Amino acid sequence: KKNFSKIKTEGKNMKSRKKVITALDYKNMDDVKNLVELLGDEIEYYKAGLEIFLNTGGEIVDYLHSLNKKIFLDLKFHDINNTTKMACEFAARKGVFIFNIHASCGTETMYEISKMLKDMNSKSLCIAVTVLTSMTEEKMQEIFMTDASLDNMVMNMAELTGKSGLHGVVCSAWEAAKVKERCGENFVTVCPGVRPAWSASDDQKRIMTPAEAVKNGADYLVIGRPITKADDPKKAAMRILEEIEAVL
Ligand code: C5P
Repeated sequence: KKNFSKIKTEGKNMKSRKKVITALDYKNMDDVKNLVELLGDEIEYYKAGLEIFLNTGGEIVDYLHSLNKKIFLDLKFHDINNTTKMACEFAARKGVFIFNIHASCGTETMYEISKMLKDMNSKSLCIAVTVLTSMTEEKMQEIFMTDASLDNMVMNMAELTGKSGLHGVVCSAWEAAKVKERCGENFVTVCPGVRPAWSASDDQKRIMTPAEAVKNGADYLVIGRPITKADDPKKAAMRILEEIEAVL
């Protein structure tokens, strides 16, 4: 067991490596470089959100691409049709692996984005945020003046996203199976809130282990602190990969 990480994952072509997106919730490039260099070939996909993107003036994207890493650009575009499309065009031109918009931009905007990506021959996946998880049902009902349940709202937005031709949604692993049922097997599910049994749950509430999440239909797992805050991030990443590999 002592050397399990070296023996089992290092240098191996594991399918699980195509499942884990490590969240770079940092403010500066030094922290990013330390982590990315430390994780080396174990981690191929990284999520860059507003914090690191803005603090580095966008440099994070070129940095990760220079190392052949794939990026989930988590900037959650939400604006009028034309502006949102221009933002999506930027992400597609940069060649990020995944980027996202808010589904509340509407079906017309989502349809036009999917068309634009096709016209550009882009391989980027554009996924939608449905309802932010920081939103409670009560607050959502207040803002949208509706009696709809949060669950129904999320599933409706996921369906509209699929019908508009976009590639998938960000959702909890608890919802992934249901999302696939409603939107089709190829509809991509990108799931945060993943916690291995051995790590702290932090502020995440509805958590699933990496193995459970994959079994429940999560295509990609967004994992931050269980890796980034681990005493040994590389070992933590390897343990996660191994756990997933066992159920693939
Ligand atoms: O550290 P942790 O694994 O909780 O990080 C998860 C990442 O996924 C963070 O960047 C967090 O902002 C993001 N996220 C989330 N829940 C959502 C949407 C995004 O945790 N519903």
